[in-house]
Amino acid sequence: KGDPRLEAISQAIRVVPHFPKKGIMFQDITTLLLDHKAFQDTVDIFVDRYRNMDISVVAGIEARGFMFGPSIALAIGAKFVPLRKPKKLPGTRTKYHAGKVICEEYELEYGTDCLEMQVDAVQPGDRALIVDDLVATGGTLSAAIRLLERMGAQVVECGCVVGLPEVKGQCRLNGKPVYILVEPR
Ligand code: PRP
Repeated sequence: KGDPRLEAISQAIRVVPHFPKKGIMFQDITTLLLDHKAFQDTVDIFVDRYRNMDISVVAGIEARGFMFGPSIALAIGAKFVPLRKPKKLPGTRTKYHAGKVICEEYELEYGTDCLEMQVDAVQPGDRALIVDDLVATGGTLSAAIRLLERMGAQVVECGCVVGLPEVKGQCRLNGKPVYILVEPR
């Protein structure tokens, strides 16, 4: 806090009440992407934080983690790995494909979903930053952490644009630090 860029970043995020369903105040980061200065500042703040932390892989969570992760990865000289919703990644699940995909489930309000990662994207010893637009319950980040750790990567931190302050410092189940730029509006 105390960084004037953060207030502008917060203001650039549009709040859409009752989307995608009643009672949810949707934090719409597409308006942040339209504001060149605020978008650049968002990426810069992450890059300044992570450039000297020896991060070798930035893992972005589908879909909105893909909008911030690659810029950060390029700037800090890390590879980018997409963590995707089920059945999007090729090279999977049959003996005819060399590549394999692993899956980690997480809880939704009703039912479960899962995130998938290609196993050859990450090697033991990789130092990972996980990026997403928003953390709410932490369930999604938690699944992402488990995917990377299964492949022997060390998760250094999770970086999110928006999150509640109580999430800071701890990620549900895994005890990995979560770095958050702004609170929900
Ligand atoms: C949103 C958001 C995070 C996740 C956070 O994605 O972009 O990935 O929810 O929620 P949690 O902390 O409670 O797990 P969403 O599930 O809406 O998927 P989408 O990006 O594909 O729309």
